[in-house]
Amino acid sequence: MFSLEGRRALVTGASGLLGARFARVLHGAGAEVVLAARRTQACAALAEELGARAMAVALDVASPASVAAALDAAGPLDILVNNAGIAATRPFLEHRLEEWDAVMGVNLRGAFLVAQQAARRMVEAGRGGSIIHVASILGERVIPGVASYTAAKAGLLHLTRQMAVELARHRIRVNALAPGYVASELNRDFFASEPGQAMIRRIPFRRLGQPDDLDGPLLLLASDAGRYMTGSVLTVDGGHSVAPL
Ligand SMILES: NC(=O)c1ccc[n+]([C@@H]2O[C@H](COP(=O)([O-])OP(=O)(O)OC[C@H]3O[C@@H](n4cnc5c(N)ncnc54)[C@H](OP(=O)(O)O)[C@@H]3O)[C@@H](O)[C@H]2O)c1
Repeated sequence: MFSLEGRRALVTGASGLLGARFARVLHGAGAEVVLAARRTQACAALAEELGARAMAVALDVASPASVAAALDAAGPLDILVNNAGIAATRPFLEHRLEEWDAVMGVNLRGAFLVAQQAARRMVEAGRGGSIIHVASILGERVIPGVASYTAAKAGLLHLTRQMAVELARHRIRVNALAPGYVASELNRDFFASEPGQAMIRRIPFRRLGQPDDLDGPLLLLASDAGRYMTGSVLTVDGGHSVAPL
């Protein structure tokens, strides 16, 4: 039921922490995987490590021409993991327009461009598909200092629902994964600090997520195990977003 043998998947942001993990997991379940990002060397290195059934393509989700070229190079897809994302941290009153534009340009406009190009090709191929948007618990909750990020992820959740309705007739399922905080190089210092430790104590599971906590939820959405799921948001956060106020 969770097998992806004979399926072809593209993962955006496959040079990053979660994207690389998603590519590994899909590949491990039997899929052919296309690893896409601007840092093609990182994608190529992982593709080489995975060996057969893996290839890397250059992709800048902010550029419609790059998106079209990457999807042409990728070939017919059954699965898209729309994972590329960036963040800008600055209080709302000081949030800069260039930061807003950059975050929206990757996290919402970029996700739209890739999803639309992939969905058009899936419709043309006529064999259905699964599109997974990597959102965040910050698409539904807020913390100070990340206005562009929370707004973009909230938009991505509603785009998920919109696409689910419009693409169902083509047997294309569209769902979102909403991770909580995942331990990474970037947030290591913050979570080692007292405010970071206090945040971890507010997570009911009392720990950060690890990339492999998303393995099962990803496979559920990607495979036939989730065949009646569309328009869903799968929250994977150790209970953080439902913690008592
Ligand atoms: N880590 C967390 O705690 C967490 C929690 C919830 C949700 N998320 C979401 O999970 C996703 C992955 O995050 P991560 O933690 O793995 O971050 P990461 O390690 O910084 O990876 C981000 C990825 O996005 C790619 N990217 C950025 N701009 C791009 C562009 N213009 N075109 C193509 N690719 C681009 C980067 O690749 P290049 O720079 O090589 O292009 C990189 O591979 C993001 O959408 C993030 O919002 C993360």
